[in-house]
Amino acid sequence: MDKLIIQGGRRLSGTVSVSGSKNAALPIIVAATILTEQPSTLRNVPDLMDLETLCHVLEGLGARLQFEKGTLSIEPIDQKTYQTPYDLVRKMRASIYVLGPLVTKLGQAKVSFPGGCAIGPRPVDLHLKGLEALGTTIEIEGGYILAKANQLIGTEIGLKGTNGSSVGATANIMMAAVLAKGTTTIRDAACEPEIEDLANFLNEMGAQVSGAGTATITIHGTKELNGVDYTIIPDRIEAGTFMVAGAITKGNIFISNAIPKHMEALTETLCQIGVQLDWQDKGVHITTPNLLAPVNVSTGVYPKFPTDMQAQIMGLMALTPGKSIITESIFPDRFMHVSELNRMGAKISVEGNNALIYGVNSLSGAPVMASDLRAGAVLILAGMAAIGETVISRIYHIDRGYEKIEDKLTNIGADIVRQK
Ligand code: UD1
Repeated sequence: MDKLIIQGGRRLSGTVSVSGSKNAALPIIVAATILTEQPSTLRNVPDLMDLETLCHVLEGLGARLQFEKGTLSIEPIDQKTYQTPYDLVRKMRASIYVLGPLVTKLGQAKVSFPGGCAIGPRPVDLHLKGLEALGTTIEIEGGYILAKANQLIGTEIGLKGTNGSSVGATANIMMAAVLAKGTTTIRDAACEPEIEDLANFLNEMGAQVSGAGTATITIHGTKELNGVDYTIIPDRIEAGTFMVAGAITKGNIFISNAIPKHMEALTETLCQIGVQLDWQDKGVHITTPNLLAPVNVSTGVYPKFPTDMQAQIMGLMALTPGKSIITESIFPDRFMHVSELNRMGAKISVEGNNALIYGVNSLSGAPVMASDLRAGAVLILAGMAAIGETVISRIYHIDRGYEKIEDKLTNIGADIVRQK
């Protein structure tokens, strides 16, 4: 298995560019493949393991997908199968995105029930509740979700979960409702930029979706959708990871292709810590003379602080003088990275869904292990700031969601080598 070997202590300097958004690309690829018979072209698609896995799932359903240099050409074929096997779904939870589109397009779907993962339980009750409200019959059998419907019928659906709105359920129900009969109103919809991007994409296909980006989304069902040529938005979590990379190495970097509106909560937190950000037309310039002030952060649904940046900001807090507190409100158990950071000399303790971070003067390089995607990202950040060598294993987690991360960071001055 590959490892990343990092020599710490290099200040980053130069320009790094943000790739297309993984979490926007996932449902858009599914919609382009299942909801129309016409071919589509998607641009600014990042080269990531998660997307490769999704393409295998969709090829298993009968589609042909070809990826070259950020462009994904999709050829759906008429006779689709409606089953996705456990072996692929277990590799990537987002495979659940095929459920709504398959049932609305083909009248049935058989999708392996996704399990939990390293960041805690990941229920799909809201996905199922929404599809049932649209007229789908759901059965769970042998580890699979069996969904059946003659014709989905638009209705009003509330998607608020115990920890707020669900991104995945909102996307799934939106994709199902575009081909339903009549009007669907989703209340307590997720407002994330990736949901807005999906809605824009569906509208280009000929769907009638309004209100995406707010808590109420209205969808007037249509009979047919067409193929399109569409460019995916930049990845706000990759951009945020680079922002922290600039700060934690006291570097001087420009991050191009970052959208300021998508990053307001992170921008505010970084400013409080003492990072200097200068938003410009095409991105953001980061300088950090000194990390000054501890800060308290609570993760939440957009536009609050994203849970997907929680691990990375913790790395920065570990080197910020004073006591910072992170409250994880979306995935209360998402603290697997704490013990690895502590092995590098951080002083962090966890109480319930709070992490208490006592800033230290320096971290020291160590052998560490990535336990999930963002937990892996913070180990790269900590390794770049640490004294000495850090060796990160299980980096397949990082490859799921960061495109050529060691190349991008090496180009701006980091010393990171991939050992095959
Ligand atoms: C998506 C993102 C993930 C991000 C998360 C929260 C993708 C592919 N993944 O995951 O990177 O960390 O949003 O921003 O876009 N919940 C339920 N019932 C459900 C579904 C969710 O209770 O049916 C709960 C979850 O346990 C969690 C909260 O709702 O506490 C939010 O989860 P959700 O937004 O659905 O996350 P994902 O879509 O899986």
